[in-house]
Amino acid sequence: MDQQSAASRPGAYSAASKWLHWVIAIVIFFTISIGIRLGFMPEGPEQDYYFDVHRSLGVLVLAAIRVAARQTFGTPAPAASLTPFERIASTAAHHSLLALLFLQPIVGWLSMDAYRADVSVFGLFTLPHILPQSDAAYTALSWVHFTLGYLMVAVLVAHIGGAMMHGFIKRDGVLNHMLPASWGRMLDQVLARGGAANKSA
Ligand code: HEM
Ligand code: HEM
Repeated sequence: MDQQSAASRPGAYSAASKWLHWVIAIVIFFTISIGIRLGFMPEGPEQDYYFDVHRSLGVLVLAAIRVAARQTFGTPAPAASLTPFERIASTAAHHSLLALLFLQPIVGWLSMDAYRADVSVFGLFTLPHILPQSDAAYTALSWVHFTLGYLMVAVLVAHIGGAMMHGFIKRDGVLNHMLPASWGRMLDQVLARGGAANKSA
């Protein structure tokens, strides 16, 4: 998508892309918080419950719909206010987040498969076993899941920090890209009023 010429790109993200962005953002915050908490919980029914919540593969489906929406409606060109570094860093962050949204649930599933745990998807069905049971494969795959999990946290800190910096410090409209148009206008008005109040004080 980023290879498209600027002229052929839409002026804004589609409503579908914006909706999916925020639904996935909420789901990912819960998935990561539960994932991190799991490692610190004692074994027992409470841990089993949170394991089931964390393991369900809804993220994979949402990510697939998200990429389909990107391909169908396109993505706007990066804002003209971005420095060359910001342009490269934000594109790299977006692409790696999309890749992690696919990889992380698959690696999680494979690690549980090697351990021979049944992965139930929202209690509807159980995923098939495709790997032989192996402690070595389980250890390696859990290490990959752990590493990718914290890599995702690091990329998200940079992504959200960047969005906030553009929204509240640079105020160049990049944060508005992902907001419904009316919210973007409201944010601009609130920030303009704040700026005017500061000047008159
Ligand atoms: C408070 C949380 C978040 C904020 C404020 C935020 C803000 C934004 C903004 C403003 C953009 C548009 C950037 C531009 O046009 O250059 C964007 C794009 C994007 N965001 Fe977020 N984001 C948040 C959370 C997340 C999460 C949790 C994920 C995924 C795990 C995510 C993945 C993406 C991706 C992949 C794009 C690129 C656009 C696309 O491919 O559809 N964001 N975000
Ligand atoms: C996008 C989806 C996912 C994200 C972002 C994610 C992220 C994380 C994170 C950050 C942790 C804590 C790091 C650790 O202790 O290993 C974790 C733990 C874990 N995840 Fe995931 N995960 C996802 C999907 C899955 C799936 C689909 C499964 C299994 C089918 C799974 C199985 C596990 C297990 C078993 C643990 C605990 C590891 C331990 O014993 O400490 N995860 N996950």
